[in-house]
Formats: sequence, structure tokens, C-alpha cells
Amino acid sequence: MNKPKRMLLENIAWAAETAESDPAFFGRLAQGQSPTVLWIGCSDSRVPAETITNSNPGNLFVHRNIANLFCAEDDNMMSVLEYAVCVLKVEDVIVCGHYGCGGVQASLSPTCTGLPHVDRRIGPLRSLAHAHCVELNALPAGEERINRLAELSVLEQVRALRRVPLVRDAERVPRVHGWIFGLRNGRIKVLSSGDPREAGEAAASTGHVATCAESECCPEAASL
Ligand code: CO
Repeated sequence: MNKPKRMLLENIAWAAETAESDPAFFGRLAQGQSPTVLWIGCSDSRVPAETITNSNPGNLFVHRNIANLFCAEDDNMMSVLEYAVCVLKVEDVIVCGHYGCGGVQASLSPTCTGLPHVDRRIGPLRSLAHAHCVELNALPAGEERINRLAELSVLEQVRALRRVPLVRDAERVPRVHGWIFGLRNGRIKVLSSGDPREAGEAAASTGHVATCAESECCPEAASL
């Protein structure tokens, strides 16, 4: 049986089981949504927002893209944010990255991926890697470097979200959190709580902005 056919059968089973265990469930779903959380995560199939947080339909308003990047010029991203903040009036915005992220890994590669849309998309990650190249290059190439950049990126998205006028000037300003998911143990690590004044976060978010000897330090800088 092909996968879509299997999914449709699973859907029939799920709907029946759900209705049996909670007869009012679909009635509530049909009445409307009032999620209190906007989730911004990676498209990676291994990081499904609802599953890893034990959430149910109706709990999370979700936007996912390659490497969980916030881009204020992206109408897809901004329309989701606008609706979440202005209409749903969510209390919390959660940016959740993950270790072992392929998009982050690609951004550390000196060569382009051969995928023009992906390359354009991860451009800001390449810039971020360059801005933090001293710290990143002190780490062994590979998993550690990729994972640290994934953390730095989450913090960068959190900062960008907090300062975008849609959030900053909202009638009800949501808390913006930065999380990262571990594929090896299924646990989420909090990088930034909803309180931007937290000391730990301030320290963690102070990025390296000094210039470096680009050709030696960041061979990929030439492509920035
Ligand atoms: Co990813």
C-alpha cells in the first residue's frame, strides 16, 4: 500500500478513536480555534510540534520552514505572525530549532547546495555564521559547530521577532521564547525564556561582531 493510501486509512482510524474517547472533540474543533501559542519551527519531519510537546489539535498555531528562520520580508511568515498576534492574540511565540539541522549544516558549507531557493533562504544563516566565526571555528568541525550555530540562530530569530513592530508594538505583546530540540533524546532545551531581561540570555545572545581575517577565518565569507 502506498503511503498516501495508508495515511487516509490511518485518518479514518484516528477520527473514529478520537470521537469515541471524546465525543465532543470535533464539535469543539468546528466551533473555532483559540490557540495561545505560535510555534515557529523547522520543516524537518523529525520535529513535529504537536507530537514533541504532547499538544492537541487547536493548541498550536504553527509555521514551519527550512531551519526555522524568521524573515520580515517573507509574506508567508509575516501573515502567520500577523494573524497570530493581531487576531488570535497569542500569549507566547516559540521559536524551536533542533540539533542536527540540515539547513544549518548547509549554511556552514563553503559551496552552494545546488538548490537555489534553499540557498537564498539560508543566506542569513551564512551571515550569522560569519558574524560568530571566531566562536564557531574554535569548535570541532561537524556536529558541534552545526549545533552551536543552530543555537545562535534560534537566539537571533528571537531577537528579530521581539523587535519587529508587529510584535513590539502589539496591543498585547507576546512573550518570545527560544527553544532547541535534541534528536538524540527527544528533549527540548530552553535557550531563551519569554523574559528578555534574563541575565543568562543576555550573555548568550551577545554575539561576536568583530571583524575577522575573512579569507583565513571564513573561507565561505567570499560567497556572502
Ligand atoms: Co532543521
